[in-house]
Amino acid sequence: MDQVIGNLYGIDFTLGGTLLELSYLLAALFFVIGLKLLSHPETARKGNIYAASGMFLAIITTLLLHKNAQGGGIPLANIWIILAALGVGSVIGWIMALRIKMTAMPQMVSFYNATGGAASALVALLEFPNADMNNLGSVLVTILGLVIGSIAFSGSMVAYGKLDGKVGDIFSGMMKYVNIFLLLVVVAISVFIMTSGQTPEQLNWAIYLLLAVSLIYGIMFVMPIGGADMPVVISLLNSLTGIAATMAGFIYNNQAMILGGILVGAAGTILTILMCNAMNRSLLNVIIGAFGGGGASSNKDQIGDMKEITMSDASILLSYSKSVVIVPGYGLAVAQAQHACHELDVILSGKGVNVRYAIHPVAGRMPGHMNVLLAEADVPYNQLFEMDSINPDMPNTDVVMVIGANDVVNPAAITDPGSPIAGMPIINAHLAKNIIVMKRGRGKGYAGIENELFFDAKTRLLFGDAKNTLQNLVSEIKSL
Ligand code: TAP
Repeated sequence: MDQVIGNLYGIDFTLGGTLLELSYLLAALFFVIGLKLLSHPETARKGNIYAASGMFLAIITTLLLHKNAQGGGIPLANIWIILAALGVGSVIGWIMALRIKMTAMPQMVSFYNATGGAASALVALLEFPNADMNNLGSVLVTILGLVIGSIAFSGSMVAYGKLDGKVGDIFSGMMKYVNIFLLLVVVAISVFIMTSGQTPEQLNWAIYLLLAVSLIYGIMFVMPIGGADMPVVISLLNSLTGIAATMAGFIYNNQAMILGGILVGAAGTILTILMCNAMNRSLLNVIIGAFGGGGASSNKDQIGDMKEITMSDASILLSYSKSVVIVPGYGLAVAQAQHACHELDVILSGKGVNVRYAIHPVAGRMPGHMNVLLAEADVPYNQLFEMDSINPDMPNTDVVMVIGANDVVNPAAITDPGSPIAGMPIINAHLAKNIIVMKRGRGKGYAGIENELFFDAKTRLLFGDAKNTLQNLVSEIKSL
């Protein structure tokens, strides 16, 4: 007989048969291979299929092989409920994935992240009545699953609303202290639950209070964060969802859930640290929600006039350059200009120009946004250079072509301590010999601040939608 480790609605949860355990191990292997393949744009699609297959395997084998203490499988009535939930969830996910625009991907990630957090919190909430209060380890796991899952849920929903423009930034200096207070309340309730010596039934009010305070903390924690700091938060929430799923896995002693959660948690944490470094923010500041949104910039709104360049002058300048660096940004994604951009780079390369792309870690609206776009247009990977490796070459670069990028080339990050992006590493486009900027008008970047690079004496602007501008430039260079 399998060892019984918990009970939910009359179903005893066991360690499962050997076959089930093996299938979980195989699923975990699929997750790891999937994650590895996801680390490169060329293999990312395959990675997704591997990871999804691992999840499919874990679900199917659980449905077929899970046994309760009496050796019976999951009751038929429950199987139908599970299948109905799977069906509804799959259809909604499928439709959303088909409809979503590339530029709205971060919103979708946030939304899915929220559902993951909610699922883990619900597992913890439903399992609390079965908790063995003498086993502090298992009570702690349940509490952590509830708290972290709830924060991930409400925080991700606010992040979703903010990215979608439905929720604005609310910032006040007090929020930092309110957030610390809420965290202390969460810790106090948790300690009370673990040490009061009361039964789960008697502690029902406390667990719901913990749920409510955690949900409020999730909202308060994301609410003040604005502008350029959002990617860090999304990545952090993602790692929280992974940790919450791990806790849910511990509650059921389910290896696939534990391993899957750890992988998400670890990947999210690594990405969070990389993002923090890329944006020069400390993780502690992220956790207490103390940055972004409020920083009043000393940046003046009108710095001067932007100087335009004609299409023919731009084409001559580019064609007779030795070295050109393209800095793609969010506007390139909006304009879907990646193919036209690659066409331009092929023509210039054909003329002997050394064309490279400078990729900022948070260019666009999601991690790897530019890499994905350029891969879609078949730009060879050896032409893509990370910010740190290409920056030293900037002073020797004849032309930097900024295509729909703004914040990631804004020198205010270095020169203006009052700027909301102060301290964020940037691509040093301002150090190049010439700068051509493609944008539609005087629109600001994500951080909502002016960019002195556009008013630099070395900068010339090509106004218009990036795709049209690039197509016109290609025709002009061809006719030279
Ligand atoms: P942004 O600072 O957002 O600037 C984009 C620029 O593109 C704008 O100045 C806009 O000016 C121009 N633009 C928009 N549509 C265009 C079009 N159709 N054709 C030509 N230009 C167009 O972009 P960025 O430099 O890539 O910086 C990204 C920002 O987003 C950073 O602040 C980053 O922190 C933040 N962020 C990043 C992520 C991740 S993970 N990558 C996630 C969330 C937020 P006009 O309106 O004048 O055209």
